[in-house]
Amino acid sequence: MAQFVPVETFDLVIFGGTGDLAQRKLLPSLFHRDSDGQFPEGSRIIAASRGELSRDEFVDLVRKALETYLKAEELTDDVWQRFAARLDYVTLDITTPDGWQTLAGMLAPHEDRIRAFYLATIPSLFGETARQLSEYGMVNDRARIVLEKPVGSDRHSAHEINDAVGQYFDERQIYRIDHYLGKETVQNLSALRFANSLLEPLWNRTHIDHVQITVAEHIGTGNRAQFYDRTGALRDMVQNHMLQLLCLVAMEAPLSMHHDDIRNEKIKVLKALRPITPDSVKRTTARGQYAAGAIGGEAVPGYADELGDKSDRETFVALRADIDNWRWNGTPFYLRTGKRLPQKSSEIVIQFRSVAHSIFGDAAGGLEANRLIIRLQPNEGMMLTMVTKEPGPGGFQLRSLPLNLSFSEAFQLRYPDAYERLLMEVLRGNPALFMHRDEVDAAWAWIDGIIDAWSDAAMPVQPYVAGTWGPTASAVLLDRDDRAWYQE
Ligand code: BG6
Repeated sequence: MAQFVPVETFDLVIFGGTGDLAQRKLLPSLFHRDSDGQFPEGSRIIAASRGELSRDEFVDLVRKALETYLKAEELTDDVWQRFAARLDYVTLDITTPDGWQTLAGMLAPHEDRIRAFYLATIPSLFGETARQLSEYGMVNDRARIVLEKPVGSDRHSAHEINDAVGQYFDERQIYRIDHYLGKETVQNLSALRFANSLLEPLWNRTHIDHVQITVAEHIGTGNRAQFYDRTGALRDMVQNHMLQLLCLVAMEAPLSMHHDDIRNEKIKVLKALRPITPDSVKRTTARGQYAAGAIGGEAVPGYADELGDKSDRETFVALRADIDNWRWNGTPFYLRTGKRLPQKSSEIVIQFRSVAHSIFGDAAGGLEANRLIIRLQPNEGMMLTMVTKEPGPGGFQLRSLPLNLSFSEAFQLRYPDAYERLLMEVLRGNPALFMHRDEVDAAWAWIDGIIDAWSDAAMPVQPYVAGTWGPTASAVLLDRDDRAWYQE
């Protein structure tokens, strides 16, 4: 059973505390942790935002958010009373002097506490927030700052943000969020690879034909369309979540689970990614944008309609990543992600090579190469296909069957939201599940190359009907290599 170890008494300040992320993810996650008894008495959660709200009005807002995002039975009255008592609110405008003195006054009596500043705002405000925090004397040795993704929109802007924040906080005090790292099944990748002797000897180019990483979403861009249009799938999903998944699958065994050891191995993978150039970009990537269609029987509008304008921003991207090192040379990693695909599902498919020679003859059929499927969400679990003999007296018939492991059946636990874990790690001061600036930098270096190549090669954005698996170029990408996306 999981243990709920209480954290030290803390003051957590959430900039953008009335925004979507805070209401939908951060506050419900904090409520769950409080509910499990992880917060010592006196710990406070202070929202800072521009809105002129009283404390009571903010508490009402949080109550409504919890009613929306928690199950009714989770929102128990006693925990709510305790949680509500921790909440406070300060009206503050990051770019002006308004509110800073008030916030400093709220924190001042508790210098000795853990102090976490969570920046759930646009990244262009990160540097200024750090500066103001320092100017008003709130940055002490126990302070830490949490940066929501995206850290910048390219390598250069990420540098600028990291330099700006780095003037006031040491690297050890900076926690860059990639919430995929907080997902249980993503953490489990390390256990799968390094706690089982079975897989590691096979985990290389000799035995693995290729790897597929799919992060599919059925939702569209909805009310985030304006933001999304400046970003696109490559920056929004590949630069961070998908490259992190790729690193965890591809990295060498770190010396230990210490964050420095893991980060060093991940950076080596990022640096070994073969650059995608204007010459190779049309062969190795596909861009798409959803048009109107239907998902689960319901009609949905196209991206341009949601945005209210024409745009050539990609809502889907598929690409072939080659890792030029001894372990992976010749074993491509295919990545794809998109909005308005048929379902929400994230999975990693490890496709092993076929047996060297079949002794069974064509009539036996079914000699499929083994495949390991790691389901990150939903239906968290793993499936390994094995070839077996079909029982019966006839000829010798082969059949591929799954060995299926469902985590929810095995553990019978609620899967906590990634933010629950990440918030606790911030308060504990453990940076292992966050991105170091060197990782962000190495990831942007590769992604910037793709963005430049797209622009040089005038890479088109192909439409796809909402509710399908992306543009035809995505299927062609694998077909060219005599492979196909795995479909259950
Ligand atoms: C975010 C992206 O980082 O991840 C969103 O900005 C995306 O566009 C989301 O919807 C997906 O996260 P999850 O946890 O729902 O898979």
